[in-house]
Amino acid sequence: MSSQHPVTVRAAAKINLHLGVGAPREDGFHPLTTVYQAVGLCDDVTAHPADELSLEVDGSDWIDVDVVPTDGANLAHRAAVLLGSHHGRDLTGRLVVEKAIPVAGGLAGGSADAAAALVALDRLHDLGTSDDDLLRIAAELGSDVPFALIGGTALGTGRGELVESVGDVGTWWWVIVPSREGLSTPAVYRHFDKLFPKADPTPPDAEGLLSALRTGQPISLARTLHNDLQEPAVDLRPELGTLIEHGESEGALRGIVSGSGPTVVFLCESADHARDLAGALMRTGHPVVLVANGAVAGSHVVPSHV
Ligand code: C5P
Repeated sequence: MSSQHPVTVRAAAKINLHLGVGAPREDGFHPLTTVYQAVGLCDDVTAHPADELSLEVDGSDWIDVDVVPTDGANLAHRAAVLLGSHHGRDLTGRLVVEKAIPVAGGLAGGSADAAAALVALDRLHDLGTSDDDLLRIAAELGSDVPFALIGGTALGTGRGELVESVGDVGTWWWVIVPSREGLSTPAVYRHFDKLFPKADPTPPDAEGLLSALRTGQPISLARTLHNDLQEPAVDLRPELGTLIEHGESEGALRGIVSGSGPTVVFLCESADHARDLAGALMRTGHPVVLVANGAVAGSHVVPSHV
């Protein structure tokens, strides 16, 4: 039996606390050792009962929703098709995506929407898809989608799609600075290959960062943040390097490019520290500066109050 009521699922943005990248595999993907963290900047996907499958995208006024496809090219739409074929049927539903995660920002916003769409449609149609099957379908959709399902803080291996939760005792405060223009993930990986033609096939491990997470101390985490895609991203967008230096000179414990960029995230000592830093960055010419903490939950149903 299908739910007669719309189902809203919330999914969080991710940042990579550690992104170790190895030389490309035969299939073109890069082997990763990464540590993801879900932060409190979320998209909501609502699945309304409908006779067909459709998709609408809306969002915060600083997000360019016009560049987000609403057809089969949208990962949330693909999620609906894949979930349907897993169950041997065409799934219907009017999917409404409410975006707060920047588009093409290195925060896995599209992956969050896909994960949320999987859960929302599963509940709308009462499909009872197992967690293992949801994770497998998520991995087919994209390397970051399984993490968007589980959230929290997790180690990612393979091409990023094999995820397991890790111990994390801290509450970490981040200042997030999106760029007006997105960066293409494949382009950043291609630039990594150009800059590092002799990269080791085994990506750098995350042991130092995993220990820091268990201390709960921001200063320890700051020292161990690592992103192998930062150099190519900054080479493509030199202003990102300037922004990192600027944020650190304003008191951030550490600034780092998030994933393949161009979003830059700054680790702070506390909520107050993060708000102070955000204010300083806004006063010096950055119109959109966000504050979020992590780790937060993965894709989950938001209770309806109707
Ligand atoms: O898996 P996903 O569809 O998110 O990947 C987008 C693109 O990013 C891939 O087509 C590939 O160019 C690059 N990528 C990669 N290695 C990874 C993940 C992504 O080269 N581990």
